[in-house]
Amino acid sequence: MQKKYLKLNCLMTALVTTLLGLSFVNTSIAAQISDASQLYISSLAASCANCHGTNGNGVVGASIPLINTLTSKQMLTQLQEYKNGTREGTIMPQLSKGYTDEQLAAIAAQLGQKQ
Ligand code: HEC
Repeated sequence: MQKKYLKLNCLMTALVTTLLGLSFVNTSIAAQISDASQLYISSLAASCANCHGTNGNGVVGASIPLINTLTSKQMLTQLQEYKNGTREGTIMPQLSKGYTDEQLAAIAAQLGQKQ
């Protein structure tokens, strides 16, 4: 009789350990996915740094417009206008066409001021 309880006890311990292990793996996978998507968004936004400076802070001596003064919403509107041809420019019309609408939204959310 006691042996039976012992067996059950072992089984329960194994089950709890497995469940705890699984939940640990789950949270670390979720953290990795969120790290990876943040890295992806940062790398998209980094493609703007050559001309607009890191995080849109501008490049000293450059005559390129400063974009860190824009809100995310304003930035997205301008990027969409460059992409659909309603806003003129020398570089941005071509460049913005290289991104999907979702990518432009992610870039604007990353670089623009949050309001
Ligand atoms: C090769 C240089 C270059 C790169 C790279 C670049 N830009 Fe630009 N950007 C410009 C120039 C030059 C202008 C002025 C408009 C034009 O001539 O196209 C401009 C204008 C803008 C404007 C309008 C600012 C204003 O107030 O009028 C926004 C917004 C902008 N860029 C966002 C971005 C974003 C976001 C990226 C990255 C996806 C990016 N740019 C990458 C050169 C660049």
